[in-house]
Amino acid sequence: MIIAIDGPAGAGKSTVAKILAKKLGFLYIDTGAMYRALTLKALDANIPVSDCEKISLLADQVNIDLRNNPDGTLNVFLDGFDVSSEIRQPRITRFVSDIAKLKHVRQVMVGLQRQLGKRGNCVLDGRDIGTVVFPAAEFKFYIDAQSSERVKRRFKEMRALGEQIAITDVKSDLANRDKIDSTRECSPLKQAEDAVYVDTTNLNIEEVVEVMLQRIKSNG
Ligand code: DC
Repeated sequence: MIIAIDGPAGAGKSTVAKILAKKLGFLYIDTGAMYRALTLKALDANIPVSDCEKISLLADQVNIDLRNNPDGTLNVFLDGFDVSSEIRQPRITRFVSDIAKLKHVRQVMVGLQRQLGKRGNCVLDGRDIGTVVFPAAEFKFYIDAQSSERVKRRFKEMRALGEQIAITDVKSDLANRDKIDSTRECSPLKQAEDAVYVDTTNLNIEEVVEVMLQRIKSNG
């Protein structure tokens, strides 16, 4: 079974996806982490994000894998190295949307995501899971929140990771990414017609998970 979770940055997708996967005994696939891993590889190789050709070549050569741990956490491997922490750095966040908008990059990543989806029952989160990667997913959710709330959440998250980032930078980064992610030509962020819309602005994590679980149980 596939559970697809899409929505903008900072809406809480990955947190609820992880909890949901653990509760259901499903694998968790963080598709944003895959675009982040490729971005890390490009930056470390000093390839400008505007160099579409070189980045596309890199996407063909890269080896990205996700490993689920029994405690519900996920490790991200880039060419055999664990890059789970590195891919959360602000330098990656700043450029990842520019890389995720490239057509060839998306083709490669979507192929990989479909392969990972064959490993078993999965919860996947991203921007195009219900629309492009798994349009026939059994359950689709679109997780959203007001942008001021998303900024606050992302700021807290970054601070918890030890990043000394200003809230104004988080705000402009989020607005910039939202714009690129939702206006790009190739599979832009949008709600699938058959996705359940969940506004999490005034809900805590447990409440969001509960709404989703109820929905899954009532249709199961
Ligand atoms: O969810 P995240 O912040 O880790 O995602 C990083 C970037 O990757 C985000 O700017 C949009 C992009 N992304 C995408 O285009 N498609 C996906 N399925 C997942 C993420």
